[in-house]
Amino acid sequence: MTRHLITSALPYINGIKHLGNMVGSMLPADVYARYLRQRGHDVLYICATDEHGTPAELAAKAAGLPVAEFCARAHDAQKAVYDGFGLSFDYFGRTSSAQNIEITQHFARQLKANGFIEERSTRQVYSLADERFLPDRYIVGTCPFCGYEAARGDQCENCTRVLDPTDLLNPRSAVSGSTELEVRETTHLFLLQSKLEGEVEAFVAEAGKEWPVLASSIARKWLTEGLHDRAITRDLEWGVPVPADVWPELAAEGKVFYVWFDAPIGYIGATKEWADAAGAGEERDWRSWWYGTDEDAAGGVRYTEFMAKDNVPFHTVMFPATELGTREPWKKVDYVKAFNWLTYYGGKFSTSQNRGIFIDDALELLPADYWRYFLMASAPESDDASFSWEHFSAIVNKDLADTLGNFVNRVLTFSRKRFGDEVPGGHAAGEAEARLGAEVARLLAEYEEHLDALQFRKAAFALRALWSAGNSYLEEKAPWLEIKSDPEAAALTLRTAMNLIRLYAVVSEPIIPATAQVMRSVFGTVAADRWVTAEQAIALDTVPAGAPFTVPPVLFAKITEDDLVAYRERFGGAEE
Ligand code: 2FM
Ligand code: ZN
Repeated sequence: MTRHLITSALPYINGIKHLGNMVGSMLPADVYARYLRQRGHDVLYICATDEHGTPAELAAKAAGLPVAEFCARAHDAQKAVYDGFGLSFDYFGRTSSAQNIEITQHFARQLKANGFIEERSTRQVYSLADERFLPDRYIVGTCPFCGYEAARGDQCENCTRVLDPTDLLNPRSAVSGSTELEVRETTHLFLLQSKLEGEVEAFVAEAGKEWPVLASSIARKWLTEGLHDRAITRDLEWGVPVPADVWPELAAEGKVFYVWFDAPIGYIGATKEWADAAGAGEERDWRSWWYGTDEDAAGGVRYTEFMAKDNVPFHTVMFPATELGTREPWKKVDYVKAFNWLTYYGGKFSTSQNRGIFIDDALELLPADYWRYFLMASAPESDDASFSWEHFSAIVNKDLADTLGNFVNRVLTFSRKRFGDEVPGGHAAGEAEARLGAEVARLLAEYEEHLDALQFRKAAFALRALWSAGNSYLEEKAPWLEIKSDPEAAALTLRTAMNLIRLYAVVSEPIIPATAQVMRSVFGTVAADRWVTAEQAIALDTVPAGAPFTVPPVLFAKITEDDLVAYRERFGGAEE
């Protein structure tokens, strides 16, 4: 038994996420966590909302709420959606928690004590009307390149050029609209990453050996470009305050840490939240997951991170640099699972243009398992993947409704009709059952191999192959014919098929947990089971003759042409 720490990239607080966010971080992390738990490992799956930074402040302003209140509400809204999606976090915390503030400040103190943070004077835009410095995104103006009038200080959304706020023509404050702006000197804290470059390189060279190419190549590319010192404070009202004991002046000026400084530390903060939420008599030791090198502490932990490719530099280079600079034994990532993009008909998911699917809308349309299976079967692992309603309905109808759902329904209704509400006895297993058992054991081993290797698309295909094996067996034995000539033979076929359903209930759990639960309930089992052994897969006899069973409602409804028309209309289809 290994102790597995799993984190998925922390979703920004501003707004419900779309399927593209889900497939590249939280869902695969959940599948992996569920699988490892079933295999008997000690798993801690942590996530949280990423609540600081300008997007949070701007979204709160747009919603007309104080930031703290906006974030509290938005956190609950995201949590509810993730529950609906069946995500089995051990804890879903918040980067604005007292725990994260405390640990972030601790990191900053350590980095300062070790000579890795220094104060530097910078020139920044100040708004006289707002009486504050404006971070880049808070300044809008006309793009000098394309003339777009609402370009932001960091980038023009229209022509995508990266800008400096001083490039903007007719600059104004995004807070008040005021044009009374001037450039002033102000002091910020800089993280001296350049001093840590060698150590980070050594870390990536060693740990990165095991990472998939997508992660290790991005990490190496960043290191080749050199690790630059970075400003880690901002002039914002909302954020982790700079600790006054170390930097009294900056604290008095109201400086807070940059969101990307406290966000990854948020993994640790949320673990402490988890520990602090322990019930009476329950032992939860957050440090044993994150701190210390011996086997009883984080030394005995395997840490896997899930994220989309744009997050890789922060997780493979900057966060490790921050951890290393503390000169304390903080757990560093062992395996980085990175994903490419899921596109919507080959283009970007876009909220403003009503293109793409947000998780709350997805769940309103269909239960989570439809999405979970589809997303894992089309996970953008080796390349970007494209969502289309046509592809989605083909996968749902073929794999879920026909291959799995129909099998379960056919077997159970037919058996009940001919033999009543108990698993029929019939002949002892014969040659066909031996072949089936061997095939199931082989496919199960393949499925396990892909899950162990975090290859989710391949894992989904292996699971589908297991479901298909049931269909092939049923076609071969044709119990609807056997019943006429040899009812005992039909009974054997149905009993074996019901054992397959029992096996599917166990092994489908990581990807389609709600359906797995329905399949378990057929035989009266409630709690999630431990994984299947190869012997059990070969024998297919866990459910004995005489065991009672029930017939559940149809597991998956087919998506019709009419549904497709309605979905395309509501969410936008292929771009004109
Ligand atoms: O890119 C994003 O969505 C960020 N909110 C991810 C943060 S991951 C972690 F470091 F906090
Ligand atoms: Zn432009």
